[in-house]
Amino acid sequence: MSDAVVLRERRGAVEILTINRPKALNALNSDVLDALGQILESLRADGPDALRAVVLTGAGKAFVAGADIAEMQGLDVAQAEAFAWKGHRVGAAIAALKVPVIAAVNGFALGGGCEIAMCCDILLAGPFAKFGQPEVKLGVIPGFGGTQRLSRRVGIGRALDLCLTGRIIDVDEALAIGLADRKVSEDVVGDAVKLAELVAANGPVAVDYVKRVVHAQADSDLSLALAAERDLFARCFETTDQKEGMAAFLAKRPAAFTGR
Ligand code: CAA
Repeated sequence: MSDAVVLRERRGAVEILTINRPKALNALNSDVLDALGQILESLRADGPDALRAVVLTGAGKAFVAGADIAEMQGLDVAQAEAFAWKGHRVGAAIAALKVPVIAAVNGFALGGGCEIAMCCDILLAGPFAKFGQPEVKLGVIPGFGGTQRLSRRVGIGRALDLCLTGRIIDVDEALAIGLADRKVSEDVVGDAVKLAELVAANGPVAVDYVKRVVHAQADSDLSLALAAERDLFARCFETTDQKEGMAAFLAKRPAAFTGR
């Protein structure tokens, strides 16, 4: 097994990224955050023939048990802000990708781990997944976007419940409150790849536009977000994917999308 802190595997047009510090339950130190940010940013160069989706998971029994407490312990205020930026860079890199990033949560997704999972476009959780924002137990608050993304996902009351108590919840509770999107089998990565392949069969431009416009609602009011949807819907009609997708449907044959 490679000693890289983030492992990479390409299965067809699906890139699988595995955070690889299993002895520390994949805690996010600067090395992991820098590597993850750099890899995700580099994937933007891959065209639709090469890349249609990304799966993000953790090695061993954890997804990610949080930001690295050993590294954070000695930080001063400026260093802590720089550390938070490293987590935010990962979220920004996921958002900037034209393809969906699927979180395959195989075990603990705590603190920064829950936050990185919430940055992903679809959050799948296996039967042993555990979620929480236990930062208050360490005397800090979530720093990789958790206060904002969790409250947007599950509502302010439920976000405060989790962030103020630091309690850890199982997959069924995570599913019930909308923190996890889907419960899958123990083969979390296999199930995530199957989902990724469903996405990969669709028109890449349309997939990119859906990702962009669905996320746009988090940052703007309804009328602006609807305007963005109208604009991207109309722009689909300048693509060959739209012509191919509709022609294929009417001809009762599978579509051959090219992402153009
Ligand atoms: N940072 C650094 N090391 C960690 C870690 C973390 N977040 N989580 C686990 N580890 C290390 C442990 O120190 C331990 O190392 P050693 O074997 O060298 O002692 C190893 O991983 C295995 O952990 P445990 O022995 O504790 O495993 P367990 O199964 O008994 O418990 C656990 C699992 C409940 C997840 C427990 O490890 C735990 O509570 N971890 C910390 C969770 C946490 O507080 N996360 C939030 C961090 S703060 C944050 O993320 C801030 C932010 O938003 C940016």
